[in-house]
Amino acid sequence: MKKILITGGAGFIGSHVVRLFVNKYPDYHIYNLDKLTYAGNLENLLDIENKPNYTFVKGDIVDDEFIQKLFSEHIFDGVIHLAAESHVDRSISNPMEFIFTNIVGTVNLLNAAKFNWKDNMDKKLFYHISTDEVYGSLGDTGYFTEETPYDPHSPYSASKASSDHLVRAYHDTFGLPVVISNCSNNYGPNQFPEKLLPLFIHNIRNNKPLPVYGKGENVRDWLFVEDHANAIDLIFHQGKVGETYNIGGNNEWKNIDLIMLLCKIMDKKLGREPGTSKKLITYVKDRAGHDLRYAIDSSKLQRELGWSPSLQFEEGLGITVDWYLSHQQWLDSVTSGDYQKYYEAQYVKRER
Ligand code: NAD
Ligand code: TYD
Repeated sequence: MKKILITGGAGFIGSHVVRLFVNKYPDYHIYNLDKLTYAGNLENLLDIENKPNYTFVKGDIVDDEFIQKLFSEHIFDGVIHLAAESHVDRSISNPMEFIFTNIVGTVNLLNAAKFNWKDNMDKKLFYHISTDEVYGSLGDTGYFTEETPYDPHSPYSASKASSDHLVRAYHDTFGLPVVISNCSNNYGPNQFPEKLLPLFIHNIRNNKPLPVYGKGENVRDWLFVEDHANAIDLIFHQGKVGETYNIGGNNEWKNIDLIMLLCKIMDKKLGREPGTSKKLITYVKDRAGHDLRYAIDSSKLQRELGWSPSLQFEEGLGITVDWYLSHQQWLDSVTSGDYQKYYEAQYVKRER
């Protein structure tokens, strides 16, 4: 049985990847390593937590000794590394957390893989999940390709860029088999309501202001989270060692246009008078260093591995809104902080 370590599996994207792998590969044992920061929520994985091929491990990737011990106790065949601090606004108010988790944590994993895999590197894979934000900001035209030079602007994107460089350095210097993918903005169920879409869905439902940064003219390329998880599955199994793959939705939206569309959908779903939700839009001070536009050219992934996004955006957005509206308990638990008690109740008490 192959042992796969997925880091950050209690987070937004990680939980979709863990679910996919646990269900699709009964002959893999999936170890989900997560510190359960504010962004980690085991309630995201209730449906698979009792599966025989799944184990949750609570731990911090910044803790070097812990990581070395974990790798010496389990002979992992592969690592899919998603654990990170992921929110740009938090990286502006507290950059240090990002340096520790995203850079030091990644190097701890690389060191543990390098040390423990040294006798049969060719059968292993270290897959690092990254973001398109490492490429910086585009003007009105053009796309990020795998050859676009790195030009990060926020502490978040700079820490992810740094970790990408270190992953490549471990490949080039030590021969560690690595693969990297850089994906555009994800949306879908289980995203922490600090990111644009879940925050705005939550606020519209509760008649709270919708804080649009600057003029709302920034552009993002949105991809449904399950399409990202499917791309990760494909790259993990068929990607070429040492390569980078860009993943994107080919789905660019100016923030204000996206917010207007969301308001329209929400009015309909909540049975409100058309035009009600958009009255909540409030323009606020722009984010410092706010990247104007991200747009991914994912043709390499499409051409070489045959991946393509499965959902049209309007459909994906509808599914997403329905999910949040029908999971009010999840949103309440996340916004009240109750979800952080789940680990204690479910795991720690059982251990005693
Ligand atoms: P998230 O913030 O929802 O989840 C991150 C997870 O990592 C949480 O479960 C958290 O508890 C865990 N974690 C944080 N610090 C840790 C530590 N020190 N040790 C162990 N676990 C720790 O993030 P996400 O949006 O799911 O993003 C996952 C990955 O995908 C990140 O690497 C991010 O850079 C990348 N990414 C995200 C997007 C996006 O749109 N969300 C797009 C492209 C790439
Ligand atoms: P976000 O979801 O934080 O993702 P990222 O910054 O990684 O792209 O933000 C998406 C876009 O929405 C980004 O241009 C910032 C903007 N935004 C707002 O206008 N208001 C908000 O409250 C948030 C969270 C984001």
